[in-house]
Amino acid sequence: MPLDSRALRAQFPWCERLVNGRPLAYLDSASTAQKPRAVLEAMTRAAQATANIHRGVHTLSVEATRAFEAARASVARLIGAAHPREVVFVRGTTEGINLVAQAWGRAHLGPGDEVLVSELEHHSNLVPWQLVCRERGATLRVLPIDDTGAVVLSALDELLTERTKLVAVSQASNSLGTRVPVEAITRRAKAVGAMVLVDGAQGVAHGPVDVQALGCDFYVFSGHKLYGPTGAGVLWGRYSVLEAMPPWQGGGDMVAEVHLDSATFREPPHRFEAGTPDIVGVIGLGAAIEWFRALGPEAVAARDAELTRYALRALARVPELEVVGTAADRIGVVSFAVGDIHPHDLGTAVDLDGIAIRTGHHCTQPVMDHFGLVATARASFGVYTVEEEIDRLVDSLTRARQLLTGAR
Ligand code: ALA
Repeated sequence: MPLDSRALRAQFPWCERLVNGRPLAYLDSASTAQKPRAVLEAMTRAAQATANIHRGVHTLSVEATRAFEAARASVARLIGAAHPREVVFVRGTTEGINLVAQAWGRAHLGPGDEVLVSELEHHSNLVPWQLVCRERGATLRVLPIDDTGAVVLSALDELLTERTKLVAVSQASNSLGTRVPVEAITRRAKAVGAMVLVDGAQGVAHGPVDVQALGCDFYVFSGHKLYGPTGAGVLWGRYSVLEAMPPWQGGGDMVAEVHLDSATFREPPHRFEAGTPDIVGVIGLGAAIEWFRALGPEAVAARDAELTRYALRALARVPELEVVGTAADRIGVVSFAVGDIHPHDLGTAVDLDGIAIRTGHHCTQPVMDHFGLVATARASFGVYTVEEEIDRLVDSLTRARQLLTGAR
């Protein structure tokens, strides 16, 4: 069934919001997606009668534990994990990547080893690798992008060698919208024996994900870009890999037995979940996943492609507008510049018309460097986005250009 964005809007309270006297057009879902009522209500229910998990024998604690573990099972179903115990709850993508960089990276990387990232990575899939490579004396290598924003796959011939211990790539670029051919990269990485981490922050909300088909060892994503809350995200790891990893943070719930001078650790995923987690957030994430699965990830992908085609055609009507990142295979994220108007001025101008877009470097300064820019304006779409909102953006940008440059 095709996705009916207009009908879906009834499930989202934000759609009733006015901004600067105009109905809000929220075109910033790549930053964070709005939450449907099903998620908000699940979180309210969880918060109203709250208890800690895994620790209590009383009824509320048992109920909270059950709801928390049900969310783990929901994640496993969403991404095709072999078992819920492969799912580690973290704060978000950034924490998931740092966990792998610190727990796996410190144990496995040394001088002469290489980690390969791509040029389009978000800072969160770049800086953790810079830190651990520096600490361990390993080398960070970079798979370049071309001027459309697509990764240059042919460069893998030279970059992937027996020295490559891990490849960390995004499924889709948050600043350019490019989809990355992760399966092809994983196949090549596996041929040299490298581990693969896929940053699914932008991929997971734009279509189906199957970690078995991707062939990766780690997959990370944030709940808040998947119509869930901030503060709850996922690190999926192949169980044999997680099992061989040392803990990252120490504390309660991750230990089997503790003495004054030593401790033993629980099996994954608990080994990596020290302390009280964001219980309400994880339950909200579980609700978001069930809601998203009911929509149908294939239908979401088809609608995303339709909106992106529409947006690219519509934005071409704005004089002097140039899309930054023109790769054919892409998600509903479109970066652009209008003449030499600063993107922040564009963002402020369209906000006056009630339109939310993101402006800046999008935590991808190397991407900006590639295109010789300091920032772009970016429109990004969610399941609730309708064509009229894109038309409003086009009209608002056209007026802003006239106003800011005196052009006609
Ligand atoms: N990574 C988020 C974005 O692209 C915050 O906007």
